[in-house]
Amino acid sequence: MWEKLGKQLGHPTRSAAGWLVSRLLTVRNRVLEETAVRLSGIQPGDTVLELGHGPGLGLQSAAKLLTEPTGHLIGVDYSEYMHQVASKLMKELVVSGKVTLHHCDVAAMPLADSTVDKVFHCNCYYFWPDLRKGATEIHRVMKPGGLMVTTLRLSHVATLAAKQVMPGENWRPEAYMTALRDSGFTDVRMEDRQHKHITFQAIYATALK
Ligand SMILES: C[S@@+](CC[C@H](N)C(=O)[O-])C[C@H]1O[C@@H](n2cnc3c(N)ncnc32)[C@H](O)[C@@H]1O
Repeated sequence: MWEKLGKQLGHPTRSAAGWLVSRLLTVRNRVLEETAVRLSGIQPGDTVLELGHGPGLGLQSAAKLLTEPTGHLIGVDYSEYMHQVASKLMKELVVSGKVTLHHCDVAAMPLADSTVDKVFHCNCYYFWPDLRKGATEIHRVMKPGGLMVTTLRLSHVATLAAKQVMPGENWRPEAYMTALRDSGFTDVRMEDRQHKHITFQAIYATALK
């Protein structure tokens, strides 16, 4: 059962289990998604990228901040099901060109070098088979000095990892922070944060180029 949950969390499919996971993410992860957006310090004209957006809560929240004509939001997710759910949610903004959603892997994004100001993600890196490859690709697309933020509830993640929901050790923040440093990020750090009685962690990294 835990393995099945892990597979659906890491790559939701169009199925009863995938639908359930999508609902679960929508209900449980709003605070993490909204806080990642807030901590990213998004400016109205920025180009912003969300990795592994899932059902699209973070996309909705970030899109509201991009009020200038140059403001552009990009989302990537390699689950076809999540890509479809988020595309439906963001339909008007996708049609207007404000939002672009790519059905692709974080490790190979169809984005030009040094074009993104802010990157945020929640509950995503634990599922990447190669953290260094993912971090290098994020670094490639970011502008010099761009900020990346990821939020997580470490105690929950550790509990799920102990049940083998996440494969291997990539869920550990230290593993991801090492990959970020090795890929050219600087000022990589993790902070404890609190919001509405929920304690969670935020990892920050700045693209050095
Ligand atoms: C646990 S869900 C989290 C969704 C959302 N960020 C949230 O917190 O509610 C993980 C999401 O990341 C996506 N994902 C995982 N690994 C990915 C990869 N290598 N490339 C693109 N998307 C990925 C999955 O398809 C899934 O939608």
